Amino acid sequence: MARSSSRREMISRACDLIEDWTGFALRETAPRRIAETFDERSRRLGYDHPLDYLEELRHLPPTADEPQRLVNLITNGLTAFWRDKPQLSALRSLLNHLYDPHYALGPVYVWCAGVSTGEEAYTVAILADEEDVDVHVLGTDINTDFLATAQSGTYDEWSLRRMPSSRRDTYLRRIDDRRWTTDHSAFDDVHFKHHNLLSPPPSSPHPDGRWDIVLCRNVLIYFSQKATSRALRNMTDQLADEGYLIFGSSEQLHPEDLGPDAPHLRPIRRGGGFVYRPGRRRTGATIEPGHWPHESGDPFPALPPIEDRTRRADSPDFSTLADVSTLAETTSNVDDGDTVAELLRTAAEHIDDGDLELAAHCLEAALGYDPFHVESHCLMGTILHSLGATERAAEAFQKALFLVPDHWYAAHRTAIIHEARGDIASARRAFRRTLRGLEISPDPLDATSVLRHIAGQSFRLRRQAKRQAHAFLQLHDNAS
Ligand SMILES: C[S@@+](CC[C@H](N)C(=O)[O-])C[C@H]1O[C@@H](n2cnc3c(N)ncnc32)[C@H](O)[C@@H]1O
Repeated sequence: MARSSSRREMISRACDLIEDWTGFALRETAPRRIAETFDERSRRLGYDHPLDYLEELRHLPPTADEPQRLVNLITNGLTAFWRDKPQLSALRSLLNHLYDPHYALGPVYVWCAGVSTGEEAYTVAILADEEDVDVHVLGTDINTDFLATAQSGTYDEWSLRRMPSSRRDTYLRRIDDRRWTTDHSAFDDVHFKHHNLLSPPPSSPHPDGRWDIVLCRNVLIYFSQKATSRALRNMTDQLADEGYLIFGSSEQLHPEDLGPDAPHLRPIRRGGGFVYRPGRRRTGATIEPGHWPHESGDPFPALPPIEDRTRRADSPDFSTLADVSTLAETTSNVDDGDTVAELLRTAAEHIDDGDLELAAHCLEAALGYDPFHVESHCLMGTILHSLGATERAAEAFQKALFLVPDHWYAAHRTAIIHEARGDIASARRAFRRTLRGLEISPDPLDATSVLRHIAGQSFRLRRQAKRQAHAFLQLHDNAS
C-alpha cells in the first residue's frame, strides 16, 4: 500500500517536473513508463530511491546535465526543408508585405521557435532570398542535440525530401554521396540559440528587440493548456506591433483549450495558408476556417491540406521493416485501447503500404504521447535508417539505449551505423552491448513489448545480430 502510494507520488512529481521543464502534459499518456524510466535512472545513478533522484532533479537548473538529457529524450524533432507548403506560402506573402526596401527599415526579423534541427530556419532564408527580402532568422530549440545539427548545417537526403532538387542545388552544396551543407550567402543571417518557450523570449537585433514574424510550427501540440498559454504570451510579448504568428497547417487554436491567461489571437488567411495577429477578439471554434477574414490582395484559397503526404516506395531495407511491421501489428493487439498501440498499428499499415514517411509521423505522434516508449524509438530508428536518415536514426536508437541500456536491438542497429561510418571503436562497444543485451533479454520474449514480440516471432533477427556481433568482434579484436 505504502509502496504503491509512493509510486503514485513519484509519477505525479515526475509529470510536474516534465511539464515545468518542457510544457508537455504527459500525465494521462505515459505514467507507467515514466515510473520505469525514473526507476532505471535513479538506480543507474546510485540513488537509494527514485524520489531522491527526483528531489535532486528538482533542485537542478533544467539546463544541467541530467535534466537536459531527459529533455533531449522527451522532445521529438521530425522536420524537413520546405515542410508545410501552405504555411510557407503564407510566410512568403508576409515577407513581401513586411519588407519595404524604400524606407531602409532593415531586415524582417523572424524567430523560428522550436526549430528542431534547423531546416525550418534555412527554409525561411531561402524564401527570403527568392523574394529579395533581407531577413534575420533566429532558430531556437530546447533540445541541445537538435541545435548541434542545426549549427553544423549538414543534412542528409531525408532532410531534403520535400525540397525541389533545383532549390537544393542552388542553396546547398553536396559534401559526399549522402550529405549536403548550407554554406551559401543566403544563410549569413541565420542563427541558432538554446531557448525554452516557457522562458522569457529572445530579443531580435532591432532596437526595440521585437520580432516581425514568429514561426512556431508543430511545437505546442503536446503542451498542457497552462504551458500553451504561457508560450503564446511569451511569443506575443516580443512581437512587433505589425507582427504575425504562424503555426502549422494542422494546428488551430481554440480559446476553450487555452484558458483565460492566453493572449487573444486573430486568425487571418494569407497567401494560401493562415496566420495570426494579436487582437481583441477571441479566436476559435466559433470562427470557422471558411469564414476567416483575409487580408486585401490575397486570393481566397482552398483550405490547406494537413500535410504534404509524400509517398515513398523506395525503401532500401524492407526485409527488416516487414518484420517490424508484423511485430508492431501483433503488439497492438497486446495493449488494446492504448493510443500508442493504435498509432503503432497505423504506422505498421503505412509501412505495409510502403509509405514510410507517414509511418514516421505516426511514430512521432506516438512518442509525443509517450516519449518513454522504447519500441517506438526503435521503430522510428529503423524507419529513418531505411530512409537514409542515418543521423536521425542513430539519435532514435540512442534514446532507446538511454531508456534501456542493454536493449540488444537498439545496440545492434547502432553498431551497424557506426560500422558503416567507419567508427570501429564505437561499433565495437555497440556490438559488445548487443551481445550483453542478447544474453540478458529473456527467452521466450516478453509479450508486452513490440520489438521483443517481433523478435519472439522472428528469431532470425536475434540470430543475425549475434552472428554479426561475433564476426565483427572477432575481426576487430584480433586486429587490435
Ligand atoms: C516536431 S518539432 C517541429 C520542428 C519544426 N518547427 C517543424 O515544424 O518542422 C518540435 C520541436 O519543438 C521543440 N520543443 C518542444 N518543447 C519546447 C520548448 N518548451 N521550448 C522550445 N522548444 C521546444 C522540440 O525540441 C522540437 O525540436
